Amino acid sequence: MILVLFGPPGAGKGTQADELKDKLNLIHLSTGDILREEVSKETELGILAKKFMDAGELVTDELIIGMIKNKIVSNDTDKGFLLDGFPRTISQAKALDEMLKSNSLQVNHVVSLEVNDSILIERLLSRGRSDDNEETIKNRLDVYKNQTLPIKEYYKSSGTLIEIKGDDSVETVSKNIFSSLK
Ligand code: AP5
Repeated sequence: MILVLFGPPGAGKGTQADELKDKLNLIHLSTGDILREEVSKETELGILAKKFMDAGELVTDELIIGMIKNKIVSNDTDKGFLLDGFPRTISQAKALDEMLKSNSLQVNHVVSLEVNDSILIERLLSRGRSDDNEETIKNRLDVYKNQTLPIKEYYKSSGTLIEIKGDDSVETVSKNIFSSLK
């Protein structure tokens, strides 16, 4: 199964991925986590990505698509993937379709976590990651609305989109995602 967890910053994509990956036996690929590891190792990619991440901007499609392609081919595609934070632009969504198609796969479900801005801001400010300051959060939310939200229509038209209320408890959200996939 190829499952995409979709939603704005702080919607709970990473939290729900942790809840679901073992239950569904999927390989969890979080582009945010992969990038933060590259930044901490000070690799060429990490150095390039850091300035975008600190500003709450998207890292370029070219870098992200290359990075995810490497991860997909270096893993056992039989197991399936849980994608968290990717795709984030229409170009990334189209590139993902192409990548999967060449392995006779396709996106099966896109779970969109629906949470309003005031809850998102509250969650992120209390988490306090280095990009969780007021200015960067505001930009991350704007970037989400302008560049990422259009993907919802893309997946709605392919019949894969499932909208889930994301402001319930972690356990309830997880239970609702799980039952929506059955
Ligand atoms: P990324 O790491 O993907 O950040 P994000 O999308 O902003 O998402 P977050 O990790 O902030 O939120 P989340 O939805 O995973 O929520 P979480 O579970 O952590 O990306 C970071 C940066 O990398 C981007 O800005 C960009 O620069 C770059 N990047 C990454 N992917 C890219 C791509 N594809 N293309 C281009 N650039 C890319 O939860 C947040 C908090 O809320 C936690 O404290 C959690 O405990 C809490 N929480 C979660 N669920 C609940 C709940 N139900 N109730 C109460 N609290 C909850």
